[in-house]
Amino acid sequence: MLPGEFKLIRLNDEHYFKHFDCGDGDLNEFLIEDSKNFLRSLLAVTYLLESDTHTVAFFSLFNDKITAEDFSSNRKWNQFRSSVISSEKRFKSYPAMKIGRLGICEEYKGLKIGTAILDFLKGWFVDYNRTGCKFITVDAYRESLGFYERNEFKFLTENDKEEDTRLMYFDLLPLHLN
Ligand SMILES: CC(C)(COP(=O)(O)OP(=O)(O)OC[C@H]1O[C@@H](n2cnc3c(N)ncnc32)[C@H](O)[C@@H]1OP(=O)(O)O)[C@@H](O)C(=O)NCCC(=O)NCCS
Repeated sequence: MLPGEFKLIRLNDEHYFKHFDCGDGDLNEFLIEDSKNFLRSLLAVTYLLESDTHTVAFFSLFNDKITAEDFSSNRKWNQFRSSVISSEKRFKSYPAMKIGRLGICEEYKGLKIGTAILDFLKGWFVDYNRTGCKFITVDAYRESLGFYERNEFKFLTENDKEEDTRLMYFDLLPLHLN
């Protein structure tokens, strides 16, 4: 559940942004400079969690897929498919939703708001999705890997171990079956 004292808002063109600073210049800039363009171009939808005075958090969602190209070999791809797909039928790609951006305003970090957002998204994409979506993915900043690991996201590949961001995923199916 998202904290009830804040309002969840789907960004629209007229929205006036309240104060936001998550400590990461690129994320701050994306929100203020780019998020409306992404919305207009149908590339990403941004959601805001607002208090009376602050943008407490924001997240931007993209469609995504997991494919063989995410893996270093066919063997790894097949290993992944057999670990997460129980049916006989194997597909060339699996539908996913990417958390393209996520930031919590400095004043509100460490209050489990990031965790509440991930829990909300997991539920949302299981119960209210309009199309099939099996995974949540994220290109996680190195500084936030621990946060996603605590929220049960896994690394998709070892190829990006030395990169600034690492591709992580969460499988929605077990939640759906529970
Ligand atoms: C990373 C971020 C989203 C976490 O949000 P948050 O609301 O502060 O996190 P939570 O309070 O829900 O933390 C949940 C757990 O993750 C841990 N955690 C939080 N941030 C962490 C980090 N950067 N590294 C490692 N662990 C972290 C917390 O200690 C907590 O652990 P616990 O369950 O053992 O107490 C937030 O700090 C942020 O906006 N950072 C800057 C932007 C960023 O890195 N965004 C991610 C882009 S991919």
